[in-house]
Parts: sequence; C-alpha cells; structure tokens
Amino acid sequence: MASKIVNFTLNGRPVEAMSKPLTTLQAILREQFKYTATKSGCKQGGCGSCTVLVNDEPIMSCLLPVENVEGQEVVTLEGLLQSEDGLHPIQAAFFERFAVQCGYCSPGMIMISKALLEQNPQPSREEIVDALTGNFCRCTGYEPIIQAVEEAARRMNGG
Ligand code: FES
Ligand code: FES
Repeated sequence: MASKIVNFTLNGRPVEAMSKPLTTLQAILREQFKYTATKSGCKQGGCGSCTVLVNDEPIMSCLLPVENVEGQEVVTLEGLLQSEDGLHPIQAAFFERFAVQCGYCSPGMIMISKALLEQNPQPSREEIVDALTGNFCRCTGYEPIIQAVEEAARRMNGG
C-alpha cells in the first residue's frame, strides 16, 4: 500500500511523518521520531501507557491512525520539560512522591494528569481517581500517584 505524508506539530515543532495506511500515532512516535517515552503496552486501548495529548486532549495513541493528526498539535512526555532542572511540576511531584517504580506507566500517567490539571486545576481526589481510571499501574498501588497529582495541582496553583 502507498505511503502517505502526514504533517503535524510534535512538541512544538512542525514535523512530517511517512505513514502506511492505519499506522498508529504510537508507532510513528516511537519508530520514526524515537520518542520512546510513549510506551507500547497492550496496543488495544486497555492500559493507557501510550497516552499523549492531541490538541490538549488525552488520546491513547495506539488506537489513533497517524493520518488523523494531520494539522493537529501532539505533545508527548518529551515535550513537557520546562523548569530549570528539566522537570515539569507533575514530573517533579511523581518523583518526590515515589509515584514511579518500574516507570512503564509513568509517561501515560503524567500525560493524563497534565490534561486533567489543565482542564480542572483543582481537582478533588475523586476527580483524580476518575481521570486515571483508564491508566493501569502494576507497581505502586495507585496511592502515590494520586498523591503526586494532588501535589502537582498545589504547585501549579502556586502552593
Ligand atoms: S498501549 Fe495503548 S492503551 Fe495500552
Ligand atoms: S510504576 Fe510500574 S506499572 Fe506503574
């Protein structure tokens, strides 16, 4: 099948992806752009490890054909670095609250948390739990992750 060129913005810069039909955004991010923070877990929409932002909305990139991001803005974990020590406040909170063990779920957890905190800067604990429902973690028992999101919300609100 013929390849197609797809143009989109990736972490703030315009890029061009060469894609065969139905190639997923996840595959393009990892294989063409080498942005391997976006994990490749179940590849069926069941684990959330591949979560990225498309126009600020969290998307499981294993389910999204890359053709669908033509002209859109895609942000991966690699696009979050902003502070002097290189960590986004959500990343710093995950690190300090021990919300990362093996780390496989962490990029997806951080991206879904970013989407939540942009839409709802002061979420309740229940709203955090609800937002994280589609993202699985086999290591932490979730409590440190919930506390990290609460801590990130405090920091991003100047607390
Ligand atoms: S790899 Fe996409 S949801 Fe599991
Ligand atoms: S830290 Fe290992 S899966 Fe979440």
